[in-house]
Amino acid sequence: ESYDLGGHDTYMHKEISEQADAVDRALRGRIDDRFSTVHLGGLNLDAREARTIRRVKILGCGTSYHAGQIGAQMIEELARIPSDAEPASEFRYRDPVVDPDTLYVAVSQSGETYDVLAAVQELKRKGARVLGLVNVVGSAIARETDGGIYVHAGPEVCVVSTKCFTNMVVSFALLALHLGRIRDLSVADGKRIIDGLRKLPGQIDEILKGEDEIKELSARYADAKSMMFIGRVRGYPVAREASLKLKEVSYIHAEAYPASELKHGPLALIEPAMPTVAIVPDDDLLEKNRAALEEIKARSGRILAVAHQAQEKADDTIIVPKNEPELDPILMGIPLQLLAYHTALALGRDIDKPRNLAKSVTVE
Ligand code: G6P
Repeated sequence: ESYDLGGHDTYMHKEISEQADAVDRALRGRIDDRFSTVHLGGLNLDAREARTIRRVKILGCGTSYHAGQIGAQMIEELARIPSDAEPASEFRYRDPVVDPDTLYVAVSQSGETYDVLAAVQELKRKGARVLGLVNVVGSAIARETDGGIYVHAGPEVCVVSTKCFTNMVVSFALLALHLGRIRDLSVADGKRIIDGLRKLPGQIDEILKGEDEIKELSARYADAKSMMFIGRVRGYPVAREASLKLKEVSYIHAEAYPASELKHGPLALIEPAMPTVAIVPDDDLLEKNRAALEEIKARSGRILAVAHQAQEKADDTIIVPKNEPELDPILMGIPLQLLAYHTALALGRDIDKPRNLAKSVTVE
């Protein structure tokens, strides 16, 4: 992949369009069908060490932090290790307990974000094991960490991250599978996840083929002053990232909430002028998500659902192909990248260089 626009009007559009190839690259040479696991050559963490990990703490900023939130859920689900993500900028300033049984993972596209780098350096000073999940090969964070995973998204030029986010989440799925298979994850579940990973590039292309429909939807929602994004458990970080994407590139105010928290405040905001984008996968929380849509509808809120099947209470539904539930977040975010892109286009924004933002924040 090169730095030229290759016929696209913006880098954001080019990078969204490259995601099937990018994911394919992240998987290439890493899958081991014989043992239903993956090889991560640069991890530098042997099986015995991996079995001693009692917690995983993921650190990143912006979009990378959101990828880390999805990653933490994947590691907790597949490897059954308590995991969470925290903005690196917050972590550095709160005098955290650095625990030798915790595996720290620094996640960064550029590998140069100052807050992430400073967190890594502080952790290293205190003797922690720190891995990097980084896109830019040989970057500062890649060099400072004990080992890690290159996400292989290729060059990302647009200030807002799209393909790198997707590849980060795929890389977390690989890490979760790897740790899971060393610990309690069964051969059958390992195989199930591998089969799901292999389906991703084709499913991403399928989503991207629906671009015209998403463009048309974006024009209808572009008049919103503010938008609400909701999701539950796996869908919540997807909602957070989609909300960030819309803010960054279209300058429309957006909020992201767990669907379960609506009744504790944000329902007060719901009215026709504030549409809701709801992440509604066909998983064990489907009925609960549907109940949230009903509550919004009862307050005359407009709803755009991203789901595996049409949602009766939604005004519009973007249908996404189904994968394994643990991998659904990878696919559900992609149409919302296109929603942010086409909304920004309809509003005439400077898509590749949104005001006040930088691709890489290398100062405090
Ligand atoms: C900036 C960019 C974001 C990015 C964040 C973290 O704020 O505008 O798109 O997510 O930095 O960057 P990193 O290179 O560490 O992933």
